[in-house]
Amino acid sequence: MREVQSLLVTGGAGFIGSNFIHSCLADRPEVRVVNLDKLTYAGNLANLQDVERHPSYRFVRGDIADRQLVQALVDELNPSAIVNFAAESHVDRSILDAAPFIETNVRGTQALLDVARAKWENHLDQHLFLQVSTDEVYGDLGPTGSFIEESPLAPNSPYSASKAAGDLLCRAYYRTYRLPVVVTRCTNNYGPYQFPEKLIPMMILRASRGQKLPVYGDGKNVRDWIHVADHCRALALILLRGRPGEVYNIGAGCELQNIDVVRRLLTQLGKGEDLVEFVRDRPGHDRRYALDCRKIATELGWRPTVSFGDGLDETISWYAGHPEWIENCLTGEYRSYYDANYGRK
Ligand code: NAD
Ligand code: DAU
Repeated sequence: MREVQSLLVTGGAGFIGSNFIHSCLADRPEVRVVNLDKLTYAGNLANLQDVERHPSYRFVRGDIADRQLVQALVDELNPSAIVNFAAESHVDRSILDAAPFIETNVRGTQALLDVARAKWENHLDQHLFLQVSTDEVYGDLGPTGSFIEESPLAPNSPYSASKAAGDLLCRAYYRTYRLPVVVTRCTNNYGPYQFPEKLIPMMILRASRGQKLPVYGDGKNVRDWIHVADHCRALALILLRGRPGEVYNIGAGCELQNIDVVRRLLTQLGKGEDLVEFVRDRPGHDRRYALDCRKIATELGWRPTVSFGDGLDETISWYAGHPEWIENCLTGEYRSYYDANYGRK
């Protein structure tokens, strides 16, 4: 088992990163956590308000592509591990403009890898670089089957192509320099603190306000939904016992068509299906993703614990209980993005 005393978490002010920091400080309060986040539109310090004075936690605003800053932080902390959540993460935004995706997801990842390599060169076995990636790098799946960790990468959006590039850099740094890297590929997360551009929080917010729900295409695209707490538990296990050079798929085996997710939300919220509006499909829209997760189950004993029904109820309650958090997200930037994305011909 690896000893973890300190962590450099990047992108910790976003959805999954902030959930991860919460669980980390709750489960292992003695582990020092430095959160490096650029605070893009998706980064929100309100996600971490309740831990900002925690003695083991520190926030640093900055870009993972800023080598000097990353170098200074790594020199100071000498982290047991770097957990890289920082990314541009929304597929629709990558279709409007791929440039920030290449900058952060590719160049930023490379900067982190370079700094880790230089710092850890003489004691590689004591450290881990954990690259948090996505099932989308495998591309589109037909109606049956699932991807294994060795499946070829075939990304179809600028977002997934940039994540696949990051994954491949990790692979190359392991093979070439023996940098201890693990890549995780997880399915669609949902839960508290998710920015309301993603399907579930956006539909909760719009339905609650009686606004139309824009469902792409025929609504029959399939995603596997995992509660963010289960994803964070998997990452914590990998930090302790994940094998360098390996890829681990993480999923909940909860495949649903988008229209069924939306219908369930409407039922839970007591709203009618007349709110559903089928709109022009996302260009290049992958039909289905599904992962074979036997590797992490067999090697590390991880299994998802939150059912979709319970997780969705809890998520709806969380958004209902945080109106200020929601208001803060819905800035001018969000409104102009919404017009640009949903106004497209
Ligand atoms: P998010 O968009 O909510 O958060 C991303 C965070 O990264 C934000 O806080 C943002 O400010 C920060 N950031 C962006 N560019 C940065 C930079 N250059 N330097 C420092 N910080 C920067 O994303 P998320 O949904 O929490 O996803 C986190 C990671 O998990 C991403 O790498 C994503 O690809 C991966 N992932 C997400 C999902 C999902 O369903 N959300 C599933 C699988 C994998
Ligand atoms: O699979 C993991 C990925 O899940 C992560 O790597 C990404 O960071 C994360 O954003 C998510 O990507 P998706 O594109 O699957 O998530 P999104 O919530 O944007 O969309 C989920 C599905 O819902 C997808 O098939 C598109 C559809 N959709 C989405 C939106 C925003 C709609 O029908 N209407 C919408 O308005």
